[in-house]
Amino acid sequence: MREMFPPERITVIGAGLMGHGIAQVFAVHGHRVSVVDIDEDILSSAKERVRANLTTMANHGINLGFEIEEILGRINTTADMASACEDCDFVFEAVFENLELKQRTFADLDRLCQKRAILCSNTSVISITEIASEAEHRERILGTHFWNPPYLIPLVEVVRAEGTADWCTTATYDILARVGKHPVHVHKDVPGFVGNRLQHALWREAFAIIDEGICDPSTVDEVIRNGFGLRLPILGPVETADMIGLDLTLAIHDYILKHINADPSPSTTLQAKVAAGELGFKSGRGFRDWPEADIAESRERLLTYLINVFAERQRHSRGGESRQNSR
Ligand code: NAI
Repeated sequence: MREMFPPERITVIGAGLMGHGIAQVFAVHGHRVSVVDIDEDILSSAKERVRANLTTMANHGINLGFEIEEILGRINTTADMASACEDCDFVFEAVFENLELKQRTFADLDRLCQKRAILCSNTSVISITEIASEAEHRERILGTHFWNPPYLIPLVEVVRAEGTADWCTTATYDILARVGKHPVHVHKDVPGFVGNRLQHALWREAFAIIDEGICDPSTVDEVIRNGFGLRLPILGPVETADMIGLDLTLAIHDYILKHINADPSPSTTLQAKVAAGELGFKSGRGFRDWPEADIAESRERLLTYLINVFAERQRHSRGGESRQNSR
C-alpha cells in the first residue's frame, strides 16, 4: 500500500511536453493538479496525453496505484492562471525556454499566489536568479529541473537561486521524494546546473571527434552504448575513479586533458548541418537519414527501455517496503 501524505495543491504552468508529464507525476501520487496553458489545443489535449502515457505504462505492467480515471479526475485544465494559483501550495513552471517570458510569468505568479506557495521553474539552462529578478518575494523561487519524460526519469535537480530560502528547497525536495522522484540539491545557480553540464561536455567531445574525422558518427554512439555507457546506470565517474584508483585517474588526466576539446563555440559539423536544414528527426536527416519507420523504432526503443527501468525500480522499492513491513 502506498504511503499517503496530505495532498498538496499543485499548479503547472505550460501543458506541453514537460508540463503534462509533471502534472501526471503529482496526480499519480494523489495530489490535485491545475494545469494552465495559453494554447487552447495544447490545453484541451493535456489529459488525453496523460491518459495515453498511463495506458502505455499499465500495458507494460507498471502498477499505477490507482485507476487511470481516478488519476485523471485529479487534473483540472484551465486558461485562467489567477484561479489556478488561488490556494495552491506549489507551482511548477514549464513554459517556453525564454528568459523574458519566464521573468514575466514569475512576476505574475508572485502576485497571484498566497505567500506560502513555493514557485519552481523547470528551465533547462537559464539562471533561476535572473528568472526571479522581477518578482518581489524571491526567497520562494527556485529551480526544479525535471528530465524528459518526467514521469519516467527519476532525477529532478533542485536548484537554489541567490535569494532562495532554505525552507523552500527543503519542502520542494521532500515533496519530490514523496512523489517517487530522485531529487538532488544543486547549491549554485550556474548555467546548465549539473546534469546538462555533464551531458553537453560529453556531446561536445562526441561532435569534436566527428569534426576531426576520428571515427564515423554512428561509431561514437556504438562506443558509448557498448562500452563505458553500460556502466553508467550503476557507476558514475566519481565512483569509477575511486574504483580504478585516483593515482591512475590523475595519470590519465595528466596525459589526455590537453587533447580533449575545450572549444567554447559549437562543432563545425553541427553548425554546417543546421545551416543545411539537416535537423535530425524533424527534417528526416541529421547525422544519418531518418525514414519515418526508423524514427518510430528509435522512440519506441527508448520508451520501452525507460519503462522497463521504471518497472525494475518499482519492484525494488516494493521489495524494500515488504521487507521492512515483515520486520
Ligand atoms: P513545450 O513547447 O512543449 O511547452 C511549452 C508550453 O508552454 C506550450 O504549450 C505553450 O503554449 C505554453 N506557454 C507559453 N507561454 C505560456 C504562458 N504565458 N502561460 C501558460 N502557458 C504558456 O516546451 P517543453 O519542452 O515542455 O519545455 C518547457 C520548459 O521545460 C522549458 O523551459 C524547457 O527548457 C524545459 N525542459 C524541457 C525538456 C525537454 O526535453 N523538452 C527537459 C527539461 C526541461
